[in-house]
Amino acid sequence: MFKFLSGLFSRDIGIDLGSANTVVYVKGRGVTIDEPSVLAIRKMGNKGRKEVIAYGHFAKKMIGKTPVGIETIRPLQHGVIADFDMTEQMVAYYMTEANQGRRMMAHPRVAICVPACVTEVEKRAVVDATLGAGAREAFVVEEPLAAALGTGLPINEPRGNMVVDIGGGTSEVAVLSLGGVVISNSLRTAGEDLDNAIISMMRQNYTLSIGDSTAESVKFEIGSVIPLEEELEMEVKGRDLMDGLPKVVKVTSNEVREAIEPFICRIEDMLRYAVEQTPPELVKDIVDQGLVLTGGSALLRGLNVRFSDAMNVPVHMAEQPLLSVAIGLGKLLETVDRGDKISITVDHSTV
Ligand SMILES: Nc1ncnc2c1ncn2[C@@H]1O[C@H](COP(=O)(O)OP(=O)(O)OP(=O)(O)O)[C@@H](O)[C@H]1O
Ligand SMILES: [Mg+2]
Repeated sequence: MFKFLSGLFSRDIGIDLGSANTVVYVKGRGVTIDEPSVLAIRKMGNKGRKEVIAYGHFAKKMIGKTPVGIETIRPLQHGVIADFDMTEQMVAYYMTEANQGRRMMAHPRVAICVPACVTEVEKRAVVDATLGAGAREAFVVEEPLAAALGTGLPINEPRGNMVVDIGGGTSEVAVLSLGGVVISNSLRTAGEDLDNAIISMMRQNYTLSIGDSTAESVKFEIGSVIPLEEELEMEVKGRDLMDGLPKVVKVTSNEVREAIEPFICRIEDMLRYAVEQTPPELVKDIVDQGLVLTGGSALLRGLNVRFSDAMNVPVHMAEQPLLSVAIGLGKLLETVDRGDKISITVDHSTV
């Protein structure tokens, strides 16, 4: 009852609960929160009680630098909840923040995204975490559908719309027509696997040990998936595995490309398989209109060119790859009350 009453004063929100980033859209306001899905915790006493000491950007800065007793946690791995309590706390925190810090009023209706590949049990866990965090209703929306809406694809028309979302923990492709998903495929391979591949390459080629954040910055600075006109290089600092001392080495974009290549090939295979499954009339539309590429990893140098060559279709970059899922959720929220017809499959749960 209290949730219902206080919910009347809170705005509907959409949450893109990603493995790497959590983005919150508040109805009528737009995207208000865009933070890494990371928490820092302090272990209290012998019973292992955990106290959260930082969320988002602050917590991400602590990765690999924490003293004894403090730990950083990524509660979502490859698009699914790996740590239920921490996910619930993170969602509660961002819901309160979205409500401008008014915790008492933070009982909104929430539309939340899950990758298309999650099982019913994993989907239920997301709903439970959202309700546990204080939402009065939780709608689960498939990520490719929100991504397609967010990138502005005319998904309600009778034409094949293909969207490819390469995130931190999952890569997804979907073909949509007449407001629904015709086919979708997911792979639990994405940006974080590329970071791990860079860590392994540095170990093998240079006996250099580096952390996750350094690997990610190598990917940002010199990562590419096609040969570059002028290959790039950068200095990478870490610990030498042979003598345990600090070491600096120069790494080239060629080496990084070679390290991440197997993962890019895997994603390309998923895209080809999706086209094989798509009805021919819709394939024809995709050949004409091309596909839309979104998700943070879409920003990897040359990924659009690479996919265009592999699939033989034009590839268009989303305007805001890191935000398109949340923007799509926002479009759903903005239209639902106005009674616009968007036929989507959503799971709906309330308390
Ligand atoms: N400029 C860039 N170049 C390469 N990769 C990038 C760039 N910017 C962000 N990324 C990568 O994008 C990923 C995060 O993307 P995104 O926020 O879409 O993922 P997510 O939605 O949290 O994850 P998922 O949907 O897989 O659960 C990270 O792995 C990050 O390293
Ligand atoms: Mg995502």
